[in-house]
Amino acid sequence: MAILPTIKYPVYLNEDLSLLTNFIDDLQPSKVFVLVDDNTEIHCLPLMSELDIKYKVLKIPSGETHKSLASCEKIWRSLLEEDADRKSLFLNLGGGLIGDLGGFVAGVFKRGMRFIQIPTTLLAQVDAAHGGKTAVNFKGGKNMIGLFYDPLMVWMQTTFLKTLPQREIASGFAEIIKYALIASADLWQMIQGQTPNTITNWEEIIIASARIKYDIVGADPFENGQRKILNFGHTIGHALESYFLKTTSP
Ligand code: GLY
Repeated sequence: MAILPTIKYPVYLNEDLSLLTNFIDDLQPSKVFVLVDDNTEIHCLPLMSELDIKYKVLKIPSGETHKSLASCEKIWRSLLEEDADRKSLFLNLGGGLIGDLGGFVAGVFKRGMRFIQIPTTLLAQVDAAHGGKTAVNFKGGKNMIGLFYDPLMVWMQTTFLKTLPQREIASGFAEIIKYALIASADLWQMIQGQTPNTITNWEEIIIASARIKYDIVGADPFENGQRKILNFGHTIGHALESYFLKTTSP
């Protein structure tokens, strides 16, 4: 069952891979591509082994410096070599970086190719995969080039979270605390007194967080007002990331 039936595209949590297989079959894509990075190739792609469709894996290296137009160009070249077209389908298997970059790659390839978000980090499951923001970094600036472009579906599994280092879980948990503080006493009740290690109801917490995100994004999809509240904590983070991109990029 879609966890958020009211938005423009379905968002699933902990459904069988047969659901994703059937959804893709119904789309009748000319080709299917799965974008991974070094980590999700090793830890997450094997969890997709029951996805019963033919696909080609495309890979970029992990790390913020690879969230670049150069990585996009490499992927666009591969897509052209593979005769991808607008009827092809792109699956983003990864965290926020893969989702943002893959969404952008798909959004402008031949003026828009369909894509599905399969977020594998806690942060991407509660934030980045939802709401249609796609982008890459440019000239040392974080997310400078991008577009608002919705996926056809968001498909999530809590089993991916078991593949994550503690630091990644902590960063997603910080976002959940932020949602609770800005929007939901109920979510606050769910997490109060908990640490990521004591939480047993991730499913409930992810659904509550995603609902908050879609409530805000639904009211202000293009970030003219209310959606800016979601940048609380990100703005300073992005400024720091931009600073380090400028000072450490080759
Ligand atoms: N991550 C903030 C937003 O989607 O608006």
